[in-house]
Amino acid sequence: MYYSDELIEEVRSKNDIVDVISGYVRLQKKGRDYFGLCPFHNEKSPSFSVSRGKQMYYCFGCGAGGNVFTFLMEYENYSFSEALKFLADRAGVELPAQEYSKEAKERADTKAILLEINKAAAQYYYVQLKNSQGAQAFSYLKNRELSDDTIKAFGLGYSNKYSDDLYQYLRSKGYQADMIAKAGLISVDERQGAYDKFWNRVMFPIMDVNSRVIGFGGRVMGDGKPKYLNSPETMIFDKSRNLYGLHRARSSKKPYFLLCEGYMDVISLHQAGFTNAVASLGTALTPGHASLIKRYVQEVYLTYDSDEAGTRAALRAVPILKEVGITAKIIRMEPYKDPDEFIKNLGADAFEERIHKARNGFMFSLEVLEKNYDMNSPEGKTDFMRETARRLTEFDEEIERNNYIEAVASAYHVGFEDLRKLVSKTAVRAGQAKPAERPKTANGRMKGKEDGMVKSQKILLTWLIEDEAIFRQIEQYITPADFSGDLYRTVAELLYDQYEAGDVNPAKIMNHFSDEEEHREVASLFHTKIRELTTVREQEKALMETVIRVKNHSIEEATKNLESTDMKGLQRLMNAKRELQDLQKLHISIN
Ligand code: UTP
Ligand code: MN
Repeated sequence: MYYSDELIEEVRSKNDIVDVISGYVRLQKKGRDYFGLCPFHNEKSPSFSVSRGKQMYYCFGCGAGGNVFTFLMEYENYSFSEALKFLADRAGVELPAQEYSKEAKERADTKAILLEINKAAAQYYYVQLKNSQGAQAFSYLKNRELSDDTIKAFGLGYSNKYSDDLYQYLRSKGYQADMIAKAGLISVDERQGAYDKFWNRVMFPIMDVNSRVIGFGGRVMGDGKPKYLNSPETMIFDKSRNLYGLHRARSSKKPYFLLCEGYMDVISLHQAGFTNAVASLGTALTPGHASLIKRYVQEVYLTYDSDEAGTRAALRAVPILKEVGITAKIIRMEPYKDPDEFIKNLGADAFEERIHKARNGFMFSLEVLEKNYDMNSPEGKTDFMRETARRLTEFDEEIERNNYIEAVASAYHVGFEDLRKLVSKTAVRAGQAKPAERPKTANGRMKGKEDGMVKSQKILLTWLIEDEAIFRQIEQYITPADFSGDLYRTVAELLYDQYEAGDVNPAKIMNHFSDEEEHREVASLFHTKIRELTTVREQEKALMETVIRVKNHSIEEATKNLESTDMKGLQRLMNAKRELQDLQKLHISIN
């Protein structure tokens, strides 16, 4: 959906950032700005600042920052449009109705109804648990040592023994039978009619990241089969894109998630204070789960069951996580079956200790592999090293591969060089693109250089945004065209226009971007740390170097793209080079 810049700016300007953030963070005025404890990292003294003048926030501790949209995108994990809708609502601004196709509208309507039905069902199950019919279920949960608070926090419930009680209840609330069926809560058969899917089970509502109920897991209270019955996939329930407990874990401030197998594991862990625990929904971990996790953390500790199936599942999860750039570590629960039993028997401190002792996913996979070989015989150990070498070839990045070779060499008492050669040989033999020992290609170096340039441009933009006096000193040398990449160039163009119009409004620049990724990237422009260097003199020097680097790069790029017959272009370049020389003599002053 496209919204005009004017509308976006109207919504932004009608939502004062101090007021909005005050709803989430306790702020205190200090000088011109407001300060509070940062909601994006764990801290004891306030380094989170909100500026009414700039309509921006910034954390001196973790570098989080942006405008009122960014705040909601980060805090609530809203997409840009969701943040816009929320703030429009808050300020009473009417957004133009979305122009849906008929089918899209029907789908959206159906989804909304399915969410309502699931919510009503969850409330119903919850009430059942608390009344006399639910006494057995309630004591089942109590026996499993869940507190009232935990039961409430996870919305646990009970589906009673009548065969169509929920169905009747939902019908009485006005929901159509076909919708209740679409929500996966009933089955319909010709002879019996409609009957509830869940019957005499303890109910675990499954929520999406925004705490909306999208399905259920129901556990028998004895030894019946299946132990857990789950809602089927529906229009709102995609098992490979949701995780149990994520709606709570996402606001835990730990930099990693504990990924476990079962609903009860998640609940026990949360109750014991490990509020960063999540689980997949009775299925194996998928790439969809991995990218979902990647939105919140870069690291995952796998706390799967200690049986063979759990070990296998953990080993399968490691490469899926690695694929999206998440580092996986493995926590073992022995001598207990799973985190729930572990916590019950040994308590939270012992679990914390296991977290500290977590093993690297790859090294763990070798320990499992080892069991297939007779490590005491030379042949056995050699075969094992061959297989290990093969697995090591799968690390594409040389540094990473060498780090692992080093770790393996030391763990298994073999020479680093010997193992490295074996890995290279294995890679060549397997026909992998290039032998491992070949030096990093120009390509790799180029990439490093590009990253450096992006950083320089980012820092320069930040200076220009922060400080008008600096902008005035630099504007004649650096133009928006000197920024490579659409994103920075666009930001620069907007900023130069604003300076020209005499109305610099960083928060407004952000409005120009509606893609979530772009929004995050632009937001990060406003919190690049530029005043870390101690003295003003050092800052001036660094700024100067940055200006020259950016200009130089821009000239290099222009030179590369210049046609030899383009006289005007050549002229321009000559001028630019001359300016660059002037620039070296310039003194930029920072106050
Ligand atoms: P587990 O069998 O390890 O159960 O299944 P658990 O979580 O430890 O359960 P408790 O402690 O006995 O109550 C792990 C997960 O696999 C799915 C569920 O998501 C469960 O939480 N599962 C298991 C099913 O979907 N159906 C089943 O029949 C069993
Ligand atoms: Mn269990």
